[in-house]
Amino acid sequence: MVNIAVIYYSSTGNVHALAQAVAEGAGAAGADVRLRRVAELAPPEAIDSNPAWRAHADATADVPEATLEDLAWADAYAFGTPTRYGNVSGQLKQFLDTTASLWASGELADKAVTGFTSAINTHGGNESTLLALYNTMYHWGAVVVPTGYTDPAFSEAGGNPYGTAHPSGAGAPGETVLTAARQQGDRLARIARRLRGEVDR
Ligand SMILES: Cc1cc2nc3c(=O)[nH]c(=O)nc-3n(C[C@H](O)[C@H](O)[C@H](O)COP(=O)(O)O)c2cc1C
Repeated sequence: MVNIAVIYYSSTGNVHALAQAVAEGAGAAGADVRLRRVAELAPPEAIDSNPAWRAHADATADVPEATLEDLAWADAYAFGTPTRYGNVSGQLKQFLDTTASLWASGELADKAVTGFTSAINTHGGNESTLLALYNTMYHWGAVVVPTGYTDPAFSEAGGNPYGTAHPSGAGAPGETVLTAARQQGDRLARIARRLRGEVDR
């Protein structure tokens, strides 16, 4: 049994849907899963300027906020962020920037970690966002678990080998990308168990 924390930021729900699917996949693989959103940092005026942002913020107010205790609890992590000009959202980055004490004590090393994202465009920064996200994990000494082409679901969802990515210009995540996200959660759980020596392959 492994503990997995799925920690994400989402303004308008696309990454939230992926996070739920990653959590489902990890749970179905036998992991104990915590789904957590990071704190919103934008001022209320900014949120109110976009009805979809306001609606999503209100709809997910009951999702617990991520804490450092979630990171200490988990054996493996899945982080999700929408792209922001090809980069990690400020909200998720702010959370990552609070982890120095855990990093210094070695708590974040040797743990499996994977990422998922969404941009409006297919080529709008999905890959660069995941690569930017993983920079932090390399510094932790974590074990980055990309999707690669290890399952047909990843190719069918666009073939981004760095992690599940959803181009939201075509609408909310459909079954194809949600299947990939579930598979990513399953893969993370299996790799985490292998790191703990619980299963051979
Ligand atoms: C400040 C800002 C910058 C963004 N930059 C890009 C970008 O460079 N390329 C792109 O395709 N989408 C960009 N987007 C769009 C979001 O990444 C996209 O709508 C994503 O699907 C939102 O995910 P969410 O629904 O989980 O919030 C940007 C959005 C914002 C607010």
